Amino acid sequence: MKNLMNITDLTLEEIDALIATAEDIIANPEKYQDSCKHKLLAALFFEPSTRTRLSFEAAMHRLGGSVIGFSEAGSSSTAKGESLSDTVQTVGCYADIIAMRHPKEGAPVVAARRAGVPIINAGDGAHNHPTQTLTDLLTIWREKHTFNGLTIGLCGDLKFGRTVHSLVAAMARYTGVKFVFIAPEELKFPHYIIEDELESRGIEYKEVTTMEEVMPELDVLYMTRVQKERFFNEADYIRLKDTYILTPDKLEPAKKDMIIMHPLPRVNEISVTVDDDPRAAYFRQAKNGMYIRMALILKMLEVEV
Ligand code: NCD
Repeated sequence: MKNLMNITDLTLEEIDALIATAEDIIANPEKYQDSCKHKLLAALFFEPSTRTRLSFEAAMHRLGGSVIGFSEAGSSSTAKGESLSDTVQTVGCYADIIAMRHPKEGAPVVAARRAGVPIINAGDGAHNHPTQTLTDLLTIWREKHTFNGLTIGLCGDLKFGRTVHSLVAAMARYTGVKFVFIAPEELKFPHYIIEDELESRGIEYKEVTTMEEVMPELDVLYMTRVQKERFFNEADYIRLKDTYILTPDKLEPAKKDMIIMHPLPRVNEISVTVDDDPRAAYFRQAKNGMYIRMALILKMLEVEV
């Protein structure tokens, strides 16, 4: 596989194989510790990140490889006016693989034309975030032991949240999955994705405005942050930012084996008093992100272990 732009670039069989590799890495980390010796990953982050960038870096280090890169556009020649294409073409001369995050939708596709090495989309604007989805899939697999037949509630900023766009595209390919979109009118899940991924396949979904009305039905509750940086108007952000706050009392009617996920960073949308609930899977999810990125790097560099 040359590049990973979108989760649907991977077949279900390829996703199964990545999950199997990640599980093997978790069970036998020493087996992989030198597998990317003398390989170099470039992490080009034109937008802030904690988990995605550091988990890519940790993944490459744990495979015995090395990492170069930058964590803000201002410290690269972008600040001098260099085009994305030229930056990436240059970095492609140094590194074996590139993970890049960019505020503009489609930027990684443009970058991939000139890179000369595999490119991984680590988040492009409000569009896609395929490696977060791989993280989410590994988490669902480890927590629920299946993808089929699950009812997934997605809550918060479903308009600008790229993680939910990619997750729906991924989960829509399994059998009997139902989607519940929990969002205020202004932050509803994009209709074009509903048409393309759900309506075209006759997949069941509903749109509601409160989490209380659907809580008992859910197998997975996927919370998201209101994406402050994508708003044109600060007043709208302030009005919408605390629409949903998950607290222990709201979880009372939920299934005992429901899992609570969040790509993180969290702002206010999950109270810290939920963290000790065994259903709170978000820090386990963050850890899974490193293992699945290790598996992805091995696949994209075609390293056999
Ligand atoms: C997400 C992102 O960057 O889209 N974070 C992440 O990669 N774990 C979610 C967010 O920023 O809200």
